[in-house]
Amino acid sequence: MNALEYIEHNRDHNLNELKEFLRIPSISTKSEHKKDIERAAQWVAEKLHSAGIEKIEIVPTKMHPLVYGESQHQPGKPTVLFYGHYDVQPAEPLDLWTSPAFEPTVRGGNLFGRGTADDKGQVHIHLKALEALFKTEGKLPLNVKVIIEGEEEVGSVSLWDFVIKNRERLKADALVVSDTGMLAKGVPSITYGLRGLNYYQVEITGPSQDLHSGVFGGAVPNPLTILSEMIARLHDKNFHVTVPGFYDDVEKISRQERKALNSLPWKEKDFRHTVGAPGLCGEKGYSIIEQVSVRPTLEPNGIWGGYMGEGSKTVIPSLAYAKLSSRLVPNQDPATIAKLVERYVRKLLPKTVKCDFQVLSTGKPWVASYTHPVFQKAIHALEKGFGKKAVFIREGGSIPFVTQMHDTFHVPCVLLGFGLPDENAHAPDEHIALENYFGGIKSVAIFYDQLARP
Ligand code: BES
Ligand code: MN
Ligand code: MN
Repeated sequence: MNALEYIEHNRDHNLNELKEFLRIPSISTKSEHKKDIERAAQWVAEKLHSAGIEKIEIVPTKMHPLVYGESQHQPGKPTVLFYGHYDVQPAEPLDLWTSPAFEPTVRGGNLFGRGTADDKGQVHIHLKALEALFKTEGKLPLNVKVIIEGEEEVGSVSLWDFVIKNRERLKADALVVSDTGMLAKGVPSITYGLRGLNYYQVEITGPSQDLHSGVFGGAVPNPLTILSEMIARLHDKNFHVTVPGFYDDVEKISRQERKALNSLPWKEKDFRHTVGAPGLCGEKGYSIIEQVSVRPTLEPNGIWGGYMGEGSKTVIPSLAYAKLSSRLVPNQDPATIAKLVERYVRKLLPKTVKCDFQVLSTGKPWVASYTHPVFQKAIHALEKGFGKKAVFIREGGSIPFVTQMHDTFHVPCVLLGFGLPDENAHAPDEHIALENYFGGIKSVAIFYDQLARP
């Protein structure tokens, strides 16, 4: 049996095994799931072993363990470093799931469950591709190093420390990641750019405690009004971000790249359908594809304060909060942008309130050329696995690790994504198309096999 036959033969087995992985609620942001995080790391370690990976370590960190392993039995052959994450986002709001988040269920050609697309399903694709090569050939055809971390959804706090301590050990000819998406169903895609991410929290304080709105209302600054006014002024009528200097370092994209991005097989109708809003809005002068991939943003992610319970309570709140984030593009510097945003937020606020501005995390954007021969092999493998030619895309999401690896090791980063934009990553009813899961395993096996050949 060759590797592809092995994959075909094990379809049901692989799907059941993925379901096992998905049943572990490895939610990295909630401390009550610490045990599940550990179980998931253990689970990954075991499967790495079946995939022919050795020297497997569950590396403890200050937060969640990461799983590292390698197989180096092919001197003279290339080495790949595969990266993925076993942690997932919280499943709330739970009542919006058609089937429970941690009870994976197949419906209409899709597998539903938290982590199916982001990123357990995609990690499993690689585990099963490696296993097929290992089991049918007796050993892996190239040298493989693997890092599967448990903190991606909370900002990969411990990962970089591990990378720096293991600089030599992590050397590879290519970094391979499957934590991104395809442009659309039936359009295999390679991602060559990601946005960076800065995350901020703003706390506005007005009166020293909540006040009776009848006794005090009319003469007291209301932190909620002031916060809302501030947020409303972060964009102008053309949806440009108004923060002075925000666009100063944004790299102008070439006419050629714009043309390529705008001729991708992408349908506005599908985008509108996925969004589901009555209408769209976005930065004037740019197409939707550009707005969501090569242009920076500044968005409120949450606003709260005052009375939020059932019924009414008459109160002027003492505090108002907002979580804001900016997606960054080359060559914006996260630290510079954080300073500019803070300065502007403070400037917009009147003297009648106090403001605490926190930068919760920062992450650099990434874009790279795809001329290295490894990309030809990726195109070839995706074409074999999906029967369609792959396209090169830039995506709006963020994987700070990719930028760090690229900047530090100057290694080509091959991002093979098998998720789809409408698969509800981070939302209820997250799913992965079975077609992409199975096509992914095949493509990745072919890719690794091709990399081993001259
Ligand atoms: N897999 C995503 C990143 C992603 C999403 C890349 C869509 C390309 C397209 C990753 O798990 C993620 O959610 N990243 C976070 C940032 C992280 C620092 C918490 C994000 O993009 O919001
Ligand atoms: Mn992910
Ligand atoms: Mn995610």
